[in-house]
Amino acid sequence: MPTTVVVGTQWGDEGKGKVTDLLARQMDVVVRYQGGHNAGHTIVVEGESFALQLVPSGVLYPHITPVIGNGVVVDPGVLLDEIDMLSAKGIDTSRLMVSGNAHLILPFHLEIDRMTERFLGKNRLGTTKRGIGPAYADKASRVGLRVQDLLDPKIFRAKLEVITKEKNSVLAKVYNQLPLDVNEIADRYLDELTPRIEPLIGDTVGFLHDSLDEGKNILLEGAQATFLDLDHGTYPYVTSSNPCAGGACTGSGIGPRDIGKVIGIAKAYITRVGAGPFPTEVDGELAELLIERGHEYGTNTGRKRRPGWMDAVMLRHAVRLNSLSHIALTKLDVLDTLDTIKICVAYDIDGVRTEKVPYHQSELHHVVPIYEVFEGWQCDLTKITDAKELPSQAKKYISRLEELAAIPVSYVGVGPGREQIVEFD
Ligand code: GDP
Ligand code: IMO
Ligand code: MG
Repeated sequence: MPTTVVVGTQWGDEGKGKVTDLLARQMDVVVRYQGGHNAGHTIVVEGESFALQLVPSGVLYPHITPVIGNGVVVDPGVLLDEIDMLSAKGIDTSRLMVSGNAHLILPFHLEIDRMTERFLGKNRLGTTKRGIGPAYADKASRVGLRVQDLLDPKIFRAKLEVITKEKNSVLAKVYNQLPLDVNEIADRYLDELTPRIEPLIGDTVGFLHDSLDEGKNILLEGAQATFLDLDHGTYPYVTSSNPCAGGACTGSGIGPRDIGKVIGIAKAYITRVGAGPFPTEVDGELAELLIERGHEYGTNTGRKRRPGWMDAVMLRHAVRLNSLSHIALTKLDVLDTLDTIKICVAYDIDGVRTEKVPYHQSELHHVVPIYEVFEGWQCDLTKITDAKELPSQAKKYISRLEELAAIPVSYVGVGPGREQIVEFD
């Protein structure tokens, strides 16, 4: 089956970029299917770090066609900056395709994202303030502008006028902000940005299906993660799209029967950025150790991530929600110095043990994790290239995780570098 999906199993930043880059060696096309520049996917090649927000992580290989699918929300200014950044590093981005059906992020989306967060005060979600939620809201309300609207200046200006009028009245009357100048927005998008974006716009659905017909291998690269999914995540502390594998179909236009493998990316511990429940969250010295050894600061926003232990209850739920076939376990090396390592195997809810994520979220806020404790390996994993070389304690931890998830771990990350990943048969 020629299509593979890469999906985050936690709350993001599991190492999707790195695994996508690895798998891209056997692919022909890499597609982003949802999210926008709230994502930050890092690939480290010979010490040089690439932090990608919108461009699919396969772009570093000349044989890959990177595609931004219809399910993505695109800020064209950010996209062009990213293209320039890649070009300056010698990466050829000329094969990049952008779906005409992808929605545009417009300046008022950023303003509204910022204002909504301010308005929510201590109840704020901790969004990336990139305008993601407001852009998807307009898409659902059927007032959004799409990438293809850039190709028809008259239509673009007409639609922009209507929507900016409405947004300006919200900005002025609800948030006491100055109105945005519709002509300024139109001139920037049409005159400055469109000439460079236009050659990239295309029929990505047609291209992907032709590629399938030709037997090409396609990788669908998820952004965010299972528990940030608008439908299946810890709502309202979620993003506004569907990172789960089902979203890979709607966000790319590839049907479910064309999907083969679904690889879930799981960090050997968990992090979360922004607010929301987190049963296995840790604090104190252990939190500091995970943050420092794992460099757990947002790729784009620089925010400190909240760390916690691996949660197999969530992982099992992610296996179900995404029909995961394999796990890529990342950042195992970050645990190198610990004398003991924990996996949450069940939750205690008012004295009752459950191995499932409670459907009533108030319960998730109050569950007490039940842990299994493992002996640490206390040695350096970062130079290991063969699964057989892993210390017995690490093998034990991995096989218990496989048992709990009931699917195989096929890759283990032992460092940020492109080569620092061990493949299992
Ligand atoms: P993504 O959003 O899922 O692509 O993940 P990010 O790139 O935001 O965060 C993952 C971070 O961990 C990046 O800094 C990666 O370079 C780094 N990383 C990925 N895999 C490993 C690994 O196996 N070990 C270590 N130490 N770092 C890793
Ligand atoms: P990658 O693809 C981690 C989080 C934000 C916030 C919530 C909503 O790098 O894993 P949004 O701006 O999307 O409306 O914010 O989602 N969030 C992420 N957390 N990694 C990401 O992407 C994220 N993208 C959004 O911190 O809690
Ligand atoms: Mg990230």
